[in-house]
Amino acid sequence: MVKFLGDLKMVAYTSLALAIALMLAFGLAGGLALDSSAFWQAVVRWVHVLAGIMWIGHLYYFNFTQIPNMPKIPDEQKPAVTKVIAPAALFWFRWGAVVTLVSGLLLAWMNGYLVAALTLGASEGFSVARNILIGVGMWLATIMFINVWLVIWPNQQKALNIDNRFPDLAAADRAAAGKTAMLFSRTNTLLSMPMLAAMVGVQWLA
Ligand code: HEM
Repeated sequence: MVKFLGDLKMVAYTSLALAIALMLAFGLAGGLALDSSAFWQAVVRWVHVLAGIMWIGHLYYFNFTQIPNMPKIPDEQKPAVTKVIAPAALFWFRWGAVVTLVSGLLLAWMNGYLVAALTLGASEGFSVARNILIGVGMWLATIMFINVWLVIWPNQQKALNIDNRFPDLAAADRAAAGKTAMLFSRTNTLLSMPMLAAMVGVQWLA
């Protein structure tokens, strides 16, 4: 057991297998045929929330754990975080964002309200409150996604010299890039809670 739990890949694959078994069992027990759209919607919803946890979990790690504690770390030990931990966290952070966005758009399309939500209900004369609310959540999350890929990631690459892409950047430019990344990361933290309220809030209006 210790050997199994010490092997992250094995644990992750086993967790995935258990999730699939559970979805199949409940899908079949609930009378959902495997070729029904309801079953696949449930699967995509699961992928979406899982990826959302991966993304926002790392956003919260940066904002609630890493950034506030960096000043307490002696300078000579900081590279352990900036050279090893942060680049690894940024990998799961930005790719989690991609899977969340793609699965979220797919979910909206499968649910039949993609255009209504993206137009914040305008395409149907603002007649369905639920579609306006999920649209608000989708737009907030899309702004967050844009911040990740167009601002936070490029600036972190400069600030931390990830993959040695900016070896000659002046210290002041590196610090400015780090500051920009931090401010946009903090903006995403600000948007995250209303975004999530909209995502889960549609259940109240169902
Ligand atoms: C990036 C763009 C995103 C899009 C386009 C999107 C889209 C959607 C859609 C269409 C739904 C289905 C709502 C319904 O029940 O009708 C949904 C639900 C949900 N989303 Fe997102 N979402 C995004 C980001 C996120 C993020 C970042 C999170 C963070 C964890 C998240 C968490 C959730 C949760 C928890 C649900 C509720 C699932 C349920 O009630 O079964 N979403 N999202």
